[in-house]
Amino acid sequence: MTKPMGKTLTAIALAAVAFGTVASADESASLVVNGDIEMVTRTAAPAHLSDSLDEVISGWVFRSDETQELQMDDFDNPGMIFVDQALEQWEMVEGTKDKSCASCHGDVEESMAGVRAVYPKWNDSQEKVYTMAMQINDCREMGMGADKWKYTGGKMAAMEALISVQSRGMPVNVAIDGPAEATWEMGKELYYTRTGQLELSCANCHEDNYGNMIRADHLSQGQINGFPTYRLKNAKLNTVHARFKGCVRDTRAETFKPGSDDFVALELYVASRGNGLSVEGPSVRN
Ligand code: HEC
Ligand code: HEC
Repeated sequence: MTKPMGKTLTAIALAAVAFGTVASADESASLVVNGDIEMVTRTAAPAHLSDSLDEVISGWVFRSDETQELQMDDFDNPGMIFVDQALEQWEMVEGTKDKSCASCHGDVEESMAGVRAVYPKWNDSQEKVYTMAMQINDCREMGMGADKWKYTGGKMAAMEALISVQSRGMPVNVAIDGPAEATWEMGKELYYTRTGQLELSCANCHEDNYGNMIRADHLSQGQINGFPTYRLKNAKLNTVHARFKGCVRDTRAETFKPGSDDFVALELYVASRGNGLSVEGPSVRN
């Protein structure tokens, strides 16, 4: 690529995000984890997307063969180490009330089955949409008398992965109507708003250009059914809001804070774009 000397900022911006069409991943592969859990990685788009997409597709489909394989067996999936750590954490007594998660919830496999699939969801007592991280921190503060975890931190990501594992293979099914509707509308608005010097919305990349190459990356639909995600790039579990932050920053915009009302709304909206795909977390991405 020639240096963009003397070009206008817009031209530089466009050059920086030029979309190409070289695709190398096997987009027809199917994902079965441990030879047992069959994942739906492509399905008909939910009704609310009928004007813009026919099909919703898991980010797994767009990854290279090698990255795809890492998610097909828990012994190869580096994210599973953190699940084991979170299982110890689940039993760990902490805080002024001498309680662990298990003290109230019992066995994680039983109590948390199906939970990941419906989050974010409306919380009646708090009268707002809650992400799983918000609920976990409420449990820590109010239930245990313990410190909150950092919203995008390692302990939170690991606990989210442990809880996600209990729903693997179940269809994402977040509610977008009733009391959650206003938050969902807010998230939708954010998704389609162009931001930053590059003046790009989430949709410009993840709806208009999925399947294309952007720089060295094969663009997906930006789905979150696989979160938390183990990324080879930073060798740790990554939370939804950390990923949103990175993508907003790539448009050279000021980003919202993890845990902010804006990102909670965006999470609900993006989750709803994946209704019908399987819960995959912890997934593996580059
Ligand atoms: C003192 C008891 C108590 C402790 C300790 C506790 N929780 Fe909870 N937890 C609750 C209650 C009660 C609810 C239901 C809250 C509601 O619906 O408003 C809940 C709900 C949840 C949910 C959402 C379940 C759903 O179906 O929506 C998750 C996830 C969760 N807790 C995780 C944890 C984790 C992780 C820990 C340990 C770090 C923990 N909890 C510790 C009492 C507790
Ligand atoms: C300039 C293009 C661009 C924009 C704009 C953009 N992203 Fe991304 N996003 C990417 C790239 C590149 C990746 C990594 C490849 C992939 O998974 O698509 C990515 C990955 C993601 C992922 C991870 C998907 C997975 O399967 O792990 C999510 C979630 C995501 N983006 C959400 C968003 C949201 C929400 C917005 C709007 C706030 C947004 N992105 C804006 C380029 C963009």
